[in-house]
Amino acid sequence: MSRYYYIAGNWKMHYTRAQSAELAQTLVNELRDGKHKYLVAPSFTNIETVSAIIEGTNIRLGAQNCAPEEQGAHTGEVSVLQLKDIGVQTIILGHSERRHSYKEDDTLINKKVKLALKHGFEVILCIGELLEEREAGKVEEVCKTQIAGGLEGVTAAELGNVVIAYEPVWAIGTGKTATPQDAEAVHSFVRQTIAQLYGEDAASKIIIQYGGSVKPENAAELMAMENINGALVGGASLKADTFVPIAKFA
Ligand code: 13P
Repeated sequence: MSRYYYIAGNWKMHYTRAQSAELAQTLVNELRDGKHKYLVAPSFTNIETVSAIIEGTNIRLGAQNCAPEEQGAHTGEVSVLQLKDIGVQTIILGHSERRHSYKEDDTLINKKVKLALKHGFEVILCIGELLEEREAGKVEEVCKTQIAGGLEGVTAAELGNVVIAYEPVWAIGTGKTATPQDAEAVHSFVRQTIAQLYGEDAASKIIIQYGGSVKPENAAELMAMENINGALVGGASLKADTFVPIAKFA
């Protein structure tokens, strides 16, 4: 089994360079002996600062988004070429805040996914249902559509650089975590969906993170589930006091 645990911090639109540097330095020290795969994704303006601190450590450098085009007249966007230039290794795409607050659809997300993979980035593709979709019994339909749409045209070889993050929208920033059983049911479905699209071998290898109010108190029970291979952490990733225990869950 080539699966491992992958714990990622999505810092969203928080912190100045100095604050990001301080957190990054603490994480470098505290996670030095950590056994899992780690990533932090600062705001664009703080990436270079954090890059200098985590370079050569066991913490990967992530970005929270990228433009769907390589370069050109795209005011306000940031390109994969620019991200590569400052050492970014991983790009989070399709986050629910991008989907819902900024109206990104599967077609746009797919364009970004393919571009990022073409340039050699690892992609964390976020999926997840709204509360009303869960209440309407549409969890699987929504997740399947987002997976198939996001990965349209992605080759089996490229899939090796894709991580799926299941983040039920109703659990993000609300303190309401999915129960390990509810999360596991969706994670298992995600793996089956990958099996249908790419075969059993690819499905057995893909890393599926859970995101949505992951805290030190619930990390271990979530990670104990067979198909949960890591966490994409928002609020609790902003303080070493809460991120380190998650990253070192036992
Ligand atoms: P919270 O951990 O704050 O719920 O955020 C989850 C998330 O959106 C990570 O991408």
